[in-house]
Amino acid sequence: MTIHVADHPLIKHKLGLLRRHDVSTKDFRDLASEVARLLTYEATKDLPTRKKTIQGWAGPIEVEEIKGKKITIVPILRAGLGMMNGVIDMIPSAKVSVVGYYRNEETLQPVEYYVKTAGNLKERVALILDPMLATGGTLLATIATLKKRGCRTIRGLFLVAAPEGLERVAAAHPDVDIYVAAVDERLNDVGYILPGLGDAGDKIFGTK
Ligand code: URA
Repeated sequence: MTIHVADHPLIKHKLGLLRRHDVSTKDFRDLASEVARLLTYEATKDLPTRKKTIQGWAGPIEVEEIKGKKITIVPILRAGLGMMNGVIDMIPSAKVSVVGYYRNEETLQPVEYYVKTAGNLKERVALILDPMLATGGTLLATIATLKKRGCRTIRGLFLVAAPEGLERVAAAHPDVDIYVAAVDERLNDVGYILPGLGDAGDKIFGTK
């Protein structure tokens, strides 16, 4: 697994604003989208292109277009929806596959309650979206769901990740690449990332 930690002043600046204790719902939403857009740029850097000739303003001209596998974005309900529009801004043709899990309070394991994936995942690159990669439990479940449905190229985009979650996912799925704005220090005893962002879902949806 390659972990790409975004090393860009714009991402660092926006992450600093996201971390503020008094960030408003509107600002959190806008910033999460903007960082998602910048992470999309990183996560799609190696997509192959092919040349084609078009009619330009001064005559025929050779341009490039993306070829090969199509993209599906996979927001994990609910907080992943907060990154969706940023990615769609960059890849307007991307299909959206949605997954949702709840936590079984006895086993503490994620249980799937909703899955609706775009057609033929074998031919698509999946970009999983979740603001926080904490314990990695939900991400592991999402990757398993996508692989079971034939998806072979899977990348995850996160605002903040914890080392514990990254290690778990790397051990189970070394073929999955991670794009993250920051890797923070650790998880606290209830699974929140420190220093982290707090509850990203609540901040995006304005709930508490
Ligand atoms: N989910 C969140 O929203 N925040 C965390 O820190 C961990 C999981």
